[in-house]
Amino acid sequence: MVSAIRGKFGKPFIIALKPPGDDGVAGGIDLEMASAINTLLAVHAEDFDLLTSVWGAHARSLHLHLPDAHGPRHPYPEDIKALRSAHPGIAASAIGYLTDPVERETALTNGTSDVVFLGRPLITDAAFPNKAAEGKIENIRYCVTCNSCWRSIIEAGALACDNNPKVGEPDEHFVAPPAVTSRRHVVIIGT
Ligand SMILES: Cc1cc2nc3c(=O)[nH]c(=O)nc-3n(C[C@H](O)[C@H](O)[C@H](O)COP(=O)(O)O)c2cc1C
Ligand code: SF4
Repeated sequence: MVSAIRGKFGKPFIIALKPPGDDGVAGGIDLEMASAINTLLAVHAEDFDLLTSVWGAHARSLHLHLPDAHGPRHPYPEDIKALRSAHPGIAASAIGYLTDPVERETALTNGTSDVVFLGRPLITDAAFPNKAAEGKIENIRYCVTCNSCWRSIIEAGALACDNNPKVGEPDEHFVAPPAVTSRRHVVIIGT
C-alpha cells in the first residue's frame, strides 16, 4: 500500500507511518511486537519518510493515546528511543504531550527523535510552528490537554477546542484579541 502511494505521488510528498507502539493492554501489541512490525515495514523504507507510533490504541488505554495532566509530560521518550534504535536508518518522530516548543526542541537534541509531531497543539493553535520558528513563543495558544477535542469528535462528529473557539475556520490563525481602549481591574474566581 505504501509503495502504491509513493508510486502515485512520488517525492518529495511526505509519507509518515504510524503503526502501534504499545497498546498498553494485556494481550495487545507491546514494544517487542511493535518493533517486529517496524522491521516488516523497514523492507519498504525507500517508500516512506518517517515512522512514528500510536500509543494506547485501545478504548481501554485512551489515557495513553491522549496523555494529559494527570500524568507526566512527554511520557514516551524511552519507548520511542527503544523503537528508533532498532532501525537507525529510518527517521523517527516523537508524539504525545509535547505542548511546548522548548520540550519539542529538547526531544530533537537529546536523541529522542529526528522529528516531533504536533497533534492537539496544532488544534489549539494552527500557527504554532510559525510562532515557534519566529521565536514568538509567548503568542502561542497552548493546548491544556483537556481532551474536549476528542469528545467533540466522538460525540458530535465535529472538531471543537476549549482554547480555540475558531478551530477549523479559514481565518483561525489570524485571531487576536482586540486592543483594550480602557483598562479595568478583573477578578477571576475559581480554577
Ligand atoms: C481529535 C483527535 C483526533 C485524532 N484522530 C487520530 C486518528 O485518526 N489517527 C491517529 O493515529 N491518531 C489520532 N489522534 C491522535 C493524535 O494523532 C496523537 O497521537 C495524540 O493526540 C497525541 O499527540 P499530541 O499530544 O501531540 O496531541 C487524534 C487526536 C485527536 C485529539
Ligand atoms: S480541546 Fe483544545 S486545549 Fe483541549 S486537548 Fe484538545 S486541542 Fe488541547
